[in-house]
Amino acid sequence: MSIPTLPRVFSGVQPSGLPHIGNYLGAFRNYLAMQEGHDAIYCIVDYHALTSTHDAERIRQNGYEMAVGLLALGLDPERAVLFRQSDRPEHAELAYLLSTVVPVSWVERTPSFKEKKRTQPDDINHALLTYPVLQTADIGIYHARYVPVGRDQAAHLELAREIIRAWNSRYGDVFVEPEAVFTDSPLIKGTDGATKMSKSVGNTIDIFAPEDVIRKQIMSMVTDTQRILRTDPGRPEVCNVCQLHRFFGDDFETIWEGERTARTGCVDTKRLLADRILAFFAEARERRLEIESRPGYVEEVLRAGAERLAPLAAETMREVRHRMGLGSR
Ligand code: TYM
Repeated sequence: MSIPTLPRVFSGVQPSGLPHIGNYLGAFRNYLAMQEGHDAIYCIVDYHALTSTHDAERIRQNGYEMAVGLLALGLDPERAVLFRQSDRPEHAELAYLLSTVVPVSWVERTPSFKEKKRTQPDDINHALLTYPVLQTADIGIYHARYVPVGRDQAAHLELAREIIRAWNSRYGDVFVEPEAVFTDSPLIKGTDGATKMSKSVGNTIDIFAPEDVIRKQIMSMVTDTQRILRTDPGRPEVCNVCQLHRFFGDDFETIWEGERTARTGCVDTKRLLADRILAFFAEARERRLEIESRPGYVEEVLRAGAERLAPLAAETMREVRHRMGLGSR
């Protein structure tokens, strides 16, 4: 009897510091859920982070922070693989090989590249342009079918499918076309209530920051901008605080009703949200302290993860190199 293989899942996160609730609600929830019944692989993508940060110590430290955060949130190294991208340098080689079938126009029109040209005009480096090709290599090298991500990654996933189709049609069906998997909250807005929650914008609600920092972040949130007076009725549909209540308690409709009837004010609703978010992540915050007290544990998890993937990566590279005419016959 053959052993049935589980569907493979891959996702990556940039080492950009402390994880925030946008990461959690948009992607990490699915990382955790997909540890069950799937062959799940999760990666700290430090090569990708080099497109925006050239501070070696920050890259290293942030990678550690992100790994500890994921473990504290419940990523279980017994059930899923967690590793650091640069510990499997085959990703970079595959990215180069894939890039040979990618028209420049495809990567030039990627929304994230256009955005970076705006947000970091003094550092439009070449790796920013090929960012999605490396992302395709990350997924392709392990033949992953499902990719849990937030909605901001949808364009990258679409491009990954196109790149894989282009390579497969030239060299044969080696790669699987990946599918994005979204949660029911695929795009979380930041504390400004206007743009995507993101470290680089500085509008995050962090999961592992000190309690007073998290409370401050939540109390600074922009609510319904048309609600000026305490007695004005609120509009929960457009208020980011009310929207977030949906994920941290099962009585959000009652909370929304309080806002609509002006029975409660924005400050009350924010305070309640802060209490609930802190309660929701209390266990993970405890676990993080416990993990941090074990010297070398996180490094060991990452090292073992990369080692477990070595045969898979080698096998894909052998096949790809052979099909592309590299090396001896
Ligand atoms: P990154 O590091 O920006 O974010 C990690 C994950 O969190 C999700 N996310 C959000 N979801 C909802 N609302 C938000 N405000 C929010 N902010 C972040 C992201 O969608 C992502 O799923 N390019 C990727 C990393 C990557 C990757 C990969 C992902 C590299 N290779 C291969 C999947 C497969 C990125 O920068 O994610």
